[in-house]
Amino acid sequence: MSRLVVISNRVAVPKARGAAGAQGGLAGALNSALKKFGGIWFGWSGQESEDRTGNINLQRSEGVTTATIDLSARDIDEYYNGYANSTLWPLFHYRLDLTEYERETGISYERVNERFAECVTPLIESDDLVWVHDYHLLPLGERLRSRGLKNRIGFFLHIPWPPTRLFVSLPFHERLVKTMLHYDVIGFQTQEWLESFLHYCTKELGADVDEATGLISYEGRTVRAKAYPIGIDWDHFQAQGDSEEAKVAEQRLIESTRNRTAMIGVDRLDYSKGLPERIDGIGRFFDQHSERVRDLVYIQIAPPSREDVQSYQQIRETLEQKTGQINGARSEVDLVPIRYVNRGYSHGELFGFFRACKIGLVTPLRDGMNLVAKEYLAAQDPEDPGVLILSRFAGAAAQMPEAVLVNPHSPDDVSHAIKLALDMPLEERKRRYHAMIQTVRDDNVQDWTEAFTRDLAEVSCKT
Ligand code: G6P
Repeated sequence: MSRLVVISNRVAVPKARGAAGAQGGLAGALNSALKKFGGIWFGWSGQESEDRTGNINLQRSEGVTTATIDLSARDIDEYYNGYANSTLWPLFHYRLDLTEYERETGISYERVNERFAECVTPLIESDDLVWVHDYHLLPLGERLRSRGLKNRIGFFLHIPWPPTRLFVSLPFHERLVKTMLHYDVIGFQTQEWLESFLHYCTKELGADVDEATGLISYEGRTVRAKAYPIGIDWDHFQAQGDSEEAKVAEQRLIESTRNRTAMIGVDRLDYSKGLPERIDGIGRFFDQHSERVRDLVYIQIAPPSREDVQSYQQIRETLEQKTGQINGARSEVDLVPIRYVNRGYSHGELFGFFRACKIGLVTPLRDGMNLVAKEYLAAQDPEDPGVLILSRFAGAAAQMPEAVLVNPHSPDDVSHAIKLALDMPLEERKRRYHAMIQTVRDDNVQDWTEAFTRDLAEVSCKT
């Protein structure tokens, strides 16, 4: 069996503390893939240093070798905070209003991709499958090819691919997508993002695209584009649920919310997650049903993220203001309707919290998939499951239409969904839960890894 070389911006340590929402879905997914294949996970150490000697830090644990490099202060500022998180991230989440277009950061993005290629190439053996991840590394395939790599190279985008009309606002958009067409397989979370990509290739590049098979022919190369919806590590998550940590967390929440229905949201503090909009929806519910304020408590776990980027500082301020306003207006001496927590928790603790909460609120304005929605369901008691309120703009909604789907921009819609969830009879809760849980259990992360690597392995080697 071929080894697997995974390349992503961050290399997450398997036992790192932090919510799924804090680390993103990428970490857990890739760890299990690497355990299966053996191989290397290459990326940024998360550390800053001015060392340009090309030092690679190799570490081995549990069958997985990680290889990391540090980035300079300038690279972190311009490539990570700049082009990746102030240009591509907002643009790909349909937020043209937050998208910055700076020539310098674009140049740094290309420079860091080149540095990744330079450092990782000597670690790759001729038979390895190479799997590149996410928006930080869109051009890496082309950089690796220019160094003579003939391996099968795949790419998976964990976030949405925007509609062509938005994407063309990016200067040098053609150049960027052309570099992507050096991969052999390109994966997306949903059919919707896949279609946007194929549309772009047809309309803007004039590539020959077969919509039915996702085969793109361009300048003598053929690339397969396909949707591979990511899932959770079901077995691992269930095992966490059996832990003492999960039991203690569940009990802690039940005791502290006695006689009230607990609702929960767990999200990285990111504007794409729709947090202020969600708080507005909860506020609207309290306005419309003031007699029920005492029935409800909302717990928002929101670990800070990308704090050097201005739009992230702003979202934090907005959220603090909104939760403060509602709590100021609606609290009593023995009651605070919104608990707002700026830290991450372990998977075990999250399992316990999810199980204790009868409503899970996952209402991003735009999201590639959203694994918190799946984890919330996975933690429910099948005999008395909670209700998932899910944004129709999350990739997960395509797989789980039985959730209570909402338009996260509409406070009335969110308020109505909360009312529906609070009053939902057990039979209906069970019906919806059973319709969704099969997808969560069966279309898990192992499945996802297998599907992608199988397709990549089937590509014939370049000669
Ligand atoms: C999302 C992205 C991941 C990223 C994660 C955490 O899930 O798709 O690539 O790693 O967020 O963001 P950060 O900037 O802290 O790596």
